[in-house]
Amino acid sequence: MAETVIERLNNVWARTDRIFDLLVPEGYLAQPIALRHPFIFYVGHLPAFAWNHVGAGVLGQPSFNAAFDELFSRGIDPDVDDPTHCHAHPDVPDTWPALADVLAYRDRVRAALRESVEAVSARAGDELMARDGRVFTMIIEHELMHQETLLYMMQRLDFDLKVRPAWLPPVPSGPGRRPAVVHVPAGLATLGAGLAELGFGWDNESPSRQVSVPGFRVDETPVTNGQFLAFVEDRGYERRELWTGDDWSWARDERLVSPAAWTEQRGRRFHRGLFELVPFERTADWPVYVSLAEARAYARWRGGRILTEPEFHRAAFGDPSGAERPYPWGAAAPADRHGNFDLRCWSPAPVGSSPEGASAWGVHDLVGNGWEWTDTPFAGFPGFEAWIPGYAGYSADFFDGKHFVLKGASWATAAELVRRSFRNWYQAHYPYVFAKFRCVRPE
Ligand SMILES: [Fe+2]
Repeated sequence: MAETVIERLNNVWARTDRIFDLLVPEGYLAQPIALRHPFIFYVGHLPAFAWNHVGAGVLGQPSFNAAFDELFSRGIDPDVDDPTHCHAHPDVPDTWPALADVLAYRDRVRAALRESVEAVSARAGDELMARDGRVFTMIIEHELMHQETLLYMMQRLDFDLKVRPAWLPPVPSGPGRRPAVVHVPAGLATLGAGLAELGFGWDNESPSRQVSVPGFRVDETPVTNGQFLAFVEDRGYERRELWTGDDWSWARDERLVSPAAWTEQRGRRFHRGLFELVPFERTADWPVYVSLAEARAYARWRGGRILTEPEFHRAAFGDPSGAERPYPWGAAAPADRHGNFDLRCWSPAPVGSSPEGASAWGVHDLVGNGWEWTDTPFAGFPGFEAWIPGYAGYSADFFDGKHFVLKGASWATAAELVRRSFRNWYQAHYPYVFAKFRCVRPE
């Protein structure tokens, strides 16, 4: 039997609580990434977003804490090239409210949401967001996406501000799949989906369009830490000719010398895991997590480039008969055996560890083990409409030529977000995402 809305809400909240429980109390005010709010903001943001869309939005109910509804309404995605310019969001307060008050607000919103399910379904006839429980799916997906954001912030957090839970599995290591290249022939790819097909989908997923994609050769597996080390040792970060103009200026300004997750101590190289420094050798076959700028430079060093969004679709969903699959592995609902997503192991895993998830062409780790960078600027598909009530800027605020599309899923991406039309986006110069890449060459 399908889960009820209340069960789905309870599950996503339990997952959120499990993630915040990784913090020690002093951790809530930490701000491990300067361009993001401290953790306490997100404790309030998740219920504020839900309330603003369900209680205040669809149901038009009076607020019980208008100050918190506003304070926690929007996060930041500042323009990293000009940190003084932020998208519209409330001013950052001098001091954040007490954690206990924010938790009380959260609990009150959760109770109100549980009680709102029937009232929302009664509005289904005249309210687009009430139909098919769409507004609940939206707040659930919003929360699931923030869980991943929280985890990549926690990844940067000092180890003494978080606690490794007893249930966490050890980080996976062992050899990955050997590198190989596969040919993907020319063909059609369907990007996006109609809203009616999806039940709920974000505005940037619709309408669908078909594009013709020339043939290409692509790595079967993403670039690993070990492979990327050869680029570092070949002085890849110092070679101007490997970087585009903007990427080079950014890398120079940031004094980049290696991926953000790598660190050295007493002459030894380590990979920063969530709760421990992992000796680099044990992570050598994990996909390397880098910014798009670093991915482009590596690909140029190898004499190739990275995937475009249409090429990702061909590699992941195309099949030799000319049909397209819902998932790389076929039509089965996403499960652990298909890839490293949905917090299966709380870490990257050696590349090619989920052979059952390979696409029809034998391309591995397209969905799972890290978002896949594409070199396609984030934009609306032809006919795009910012149709989500009260959230017109969800996608359109980022159609600025600086944000690029990522596809697939990382180890921290919920299975509910694994669908062909789902699009993620980040700035080319944002190095903290769980994002990998692979190299492509023409036929
Ligand atoms: Fe948000």
